Amino acid sequence: MLDLVAEFARLAADAVKAKYGTEGVPAELAIVRATKVEFGDLQCSGALQLAKPLGQKPRDVAQVIADGLAAHDAVAKTEIAGPGFVNLFLKDAWVAAHAADGLALRQIGAGQKVVLDYSSPNVAKPMHIAHIRSTIIGDAIKRVLKAVGYEVIADNHLGDWGTQFGKLIVAWRKWLDPAAFERSPVEELLRLYIKFVEEDKSADDAEGNESDATPLLKEARAELVKLQQGDAENVALWKRFIEVSLKEFGRIYQRLGVEFDHYYGESHYNDLLAGTVERLLKDGIAEESRGAIAVFFRKPDGTDELPPLLIRKADGGYLYGTTDIAGLLYRVDRWNPSRILIVTDERQQLHFKQFFAVGRRLGITCSLEHVWFGLMRLPEGTISTREGKQIGLEALLDEAERRALAVATESSPELSDAERREVARVVGIGAVKYNDLSKDRQTLVTFTWDKALSLQGNTAPYLQYAYARIKSILRKAAADGAGEPGKVTAPTPVERALIMRLLGFPEAVEQVARSARPHVLADYLYELAGAFSTFYADHPVLKAEPAVRASRLRLCALVADTLQRGLALLGIEVLERM
Ligand code: ARG
Repeated sequence: MLDLVAEFARLAADAVKAKYGTEGVPAELAIVRATKVEFGDLQCSGALQLAKPLGQKPRDVAQVIADGLAAHDAVAKTEIAGPGFVNLFLKDAWVAAHAADGLALRQIGAGQKVVLDYSSPNVAKPMHIAHIRSTIIGDAIKRVLKAVGYEVIADNHLGDWGTQFGKLIVAWRKWLDPAAFERSPVEELLRLYIKFVEEDKSADDAEGNESDATPLLKEARAELVKLQQGDAENVALWKRFIEVSLKEFGRIYQRLGVEFDHYYGESHYNDLLAGTVERLLKDGIAEESRGAIAVFFRKPDGTDELPPLLIRKADGGYLYGTTDIAGLLYRVDRWNPSRILIVTDERQQLHFKQFFAVGRRLGITCSLEHVWFGLMRLPEGTISTREGKQIGLEALLDEAERRALAVATESSPELSDAERREVARVVGIGAVKYNDLSKDRQTLVTFTWDKALSLQGNTAPYLQYAYARIKSILRKAAADGAGEPGKVTAPTPVERALIMRLLGFPEAVEQVARSARPHVLADYLYELAGAFSTFYADHPVLKAEPAVRASRLRLCALVADTLQRGLALLGIEVLERM
C-alpha cells in the first residue's frame, strides 16, 4: 500500500509536469488516505497547492492529476471533488489481491544505527513509576525501530555515580540492618538513604540557619572523595550497591521481557569527564564563571536563550550534564548512529535542550531526540504507596497479575489452573504496558486498575481477547474440516474496509519509528479490532458457503496475525486461548 501510494505520488506529479512543464512541480504530490468512504480510498490535494504557481484553475489541474492516476491498473475510478481534490477509488480486485501486504514492513531504517537510552534507573533506589514508563516506552520503540530495519543499540544509562554514594556509604556504616539487607537489599538501601537525608535535615535545623554543611554531610563528602580516588573499601561497597540493584532491576526486566545491549551507566564515563571539560573550554564552548565552568546560551543581544548548563562545580565536581556530554561524544565516536533517542520523564526537558545545544556546538549532526513522557498519576488507594515513598514496580506487576487472575477465574472457568495463571501473567503485564503505551506519551496519564484491565475499550485485554477469539474461530474451522483459509475474493464493503485497515499497519509502524510515539500503533490496533468486530457481527464465517468461507477465514487469519505482530511490537504477548 505504501509503495502504491508512493507510485501514485510520482504519477500525479508526472501528469502535471507533462501538461504544464516541470517548473515548480515537486517530484511527488502528497497522497493521503481518504477520511470518509465517499471520498474513495486515497486523496490528492496537490492541485490546490499547484494551481496558483502554475497560473491554472485548481479544478483543471485536478483533472490532469485524475486522468494521470486513472491510467494505473489498480485504480477503479477517480473523481474531482470540492475546490480541486482528487478522490481515488481502488479496484476491489486489487484490494482483495493485496490483503496480506500489510504484514510486510518496509525497511526504512536499513543501514542506519540508533542509540536508544531508556529505563536508566538510579542505583540503590527502587525503580519508580517514571522508570517504568521509560522502560516500557523505550522497549516498544526499540522493537518498532528494529522491525523497520534499524540496528538498535539499547543502552541503559544507569544512575550509578554521584553524591548519593557518599551519603549511602556513611549511612551504611552507621545504620545498616544486615537482616533487612539480606531480605530486600534495595529496600534497605533506600531506607538508609532516607535516614541519612532525615538525620542531615534535623541536624541542619538544630544548628539554625547556617548554610554550612552539617558534620554528617561533610562526612559524606569525604567518603565520596575517597570513593572517587579509588579507596578500596568504598569502591567495594559501591560495587556491592550496584550489584544488588542490577539484580533487582534484572528481575523486573525479565518479567517485562526487556533486554539491553549495554549497561553503560554514568560511571562508565568517569575517565572522560576531565577531557570533555577541557575540550569544551578549548573550543570556546564553555567558560569559567565564578570558579565554576558552564556553557552559556547567549543570544546576540546578550540575553540568555536558555539558562547556562553547569559542567564543573567550583569544588571540581562534575555533573549529570557533564556525563551526558561525554556520553554523547562516546556514542557518536563508537557507533556513528544516525539517531540518538533518550527516554525520560517530562521534568528533564530543559536539561536535554541545553545538552543537545552543546552537542550541536561540538559539531554533532546526528538526530538528537529527547523522547519525554508525562508522569503517570496514581489516584489514591490504587496501590499501597506508603507515605512519601516511591511506588515499586514489582508491587504494581504483582497486583496486575493478581487482579487479572481474578478476572480470568471468573470469565474462563474452563481453563486449568496453570492456564489461568499464564492468562493472568500475560494479561496483567500486558495491561500495565498497554496503559503506558496507548496514550500519547506527552499527555497526562492517570492509572486505574479498572480501566487498565477492562475487557472493553482501548485496553490490552480487549485486544488480547480479540486475538484469542479469532484463533478460536480458526481452530473450529480446522476441526470441522470444511476448508482452510483461502484467497480473499469479492469483498463486501465491510470486508473491503477491513482490508484497507489491515493495509494501514505499515503506516502506523513507520509513524511510530519516526516519531517515537507508540500510541499511534496502539490506536491502529484498537481500530483494527473494531473493524473486525463490525465485520464479524454480520458476516458469517464458519457457516458461509465454501469459497466465501475460505475468503473470510483468510481475513480472520490476517487480522489475528496483524494483532499479534502489532502487540509484539509493543512488547505485549498474546494467548491462543483465554
Ligand atoms: N538516571 C536518570 C534518571 O533517573 C535518567 C537518565 C537518562 N539518560 C541520560 N542519558 N541522561 O532521571
